[in-house]
Amino acid sequence: MSKPRVLVSRAIFPEVIARLQEHFEVDANQGDELWSRAEFAARLKGAAGALTTGAERIDEDALAGAPGLRICANMAVGYNNFDVPAMTRRRVLATNTPDVLTETTADFGFALLMATARRVTESEHYLRAGKWTRWSYDMFSGCEVHGTTLGILGMGRIGQGIARRGAHGFGMKVIYHNRSRLAPELEAQCKATYVSKLDLLRTADHLVLVVPYSAQSHHSIGAAELAQMKPTATIVNIARGGIVDDAALAAALRSKGIAAAGLDVFEGEPQVHPDLLTVPNVVLTPHIASATVPTRLAMANLAADNLIGFLVNGKPLTPLNPE
Ligand code: DGY
Repeated sequence: MSKPRVLVSRAIFPEVIARLQEHFEVDANQGDELWSRAEFAARLKGAAGALTTGAERIDEDALAGAPGLRICANMAVGYNNFDVPAMTRRRVLATNTPDVLTETTADFGFALLMATARRVTESEHYLRAGKWTRWSYDMFSGCEVHGTTLGILGMGRIGQGIARRGAHGFGMKVIYHNRSRLAPELEAQCKATYVSKLDLLRTADHLVLVVPYSAQSHHSIGAAELAQMKPTATIVNIARGGIVDDAALAAALRSKGIAAAGLDVFEGEPQVHPDLLTVPNVVLTPHIASATVPTRLAMANLAADNLIGFLVNGKPLTPLNPE
């Protein structure tokens, strides 16, 4: 009997491709280029499963051309590239990669917070440009981190990881806002206090965004929200572009409405809003919060396990829309 065909949309670890090849005929993108939407759609036709990344949109159009498709396994915890209701209507299982990236992503959130508050990249550029001629008492003075108030918007697993780091490692007072309040034992573990979104904006010294992207969270942070923040505050986005209105953020940074920002994700990435590229008080990184070899390997393996688990054994590990 011929093996089912599975698509892998981007180059991933060869050992994970080899695992998939034990069970499937694998059509893998081995290059560094994204497949165009048309090429992805053509290859999806006749596939039983696909291992995708956030770059491939699985919507009504993509699904209509692939009637044999049974599962899309996203190699990401975020899945805003999936139209889950459309997938459910067409009986296509959606899976993601929760848990395996939580601590690594929280580490990066903290790294970005520290780099932003303490002006790490801005001062490095100054040094590399040969501008450093002497010590001075006020050179690159940044914002205090320890003992300040850490605000978290979105208190899922990664948000809780950031909270634990802030509370236990840096003696920060942690406040958060989320769709629903955490159970008391989780609040105690994170030493976190639930507040309204307005209080979060007004009180945080450092605000970290970890909320999933959806139509409801689109531009959750725009000019009106930024205007509520302290002029000494920083903001860090490791969730998704689109949660922040990048043009409004660039304007707030330029006018010193807030002190600084750290961004790992952007609206329309890999394009970055040109205004963000010209303000000095922002640290910009190319969507790398989960990027360590062990974590990316765990993510690829979990996505592969979902394909094998479902198509071979009928049991996916982390389904988003189980039957
Ligand atoms: C995720 O897992 O959602 C990260 O953003 C990597 O894409």
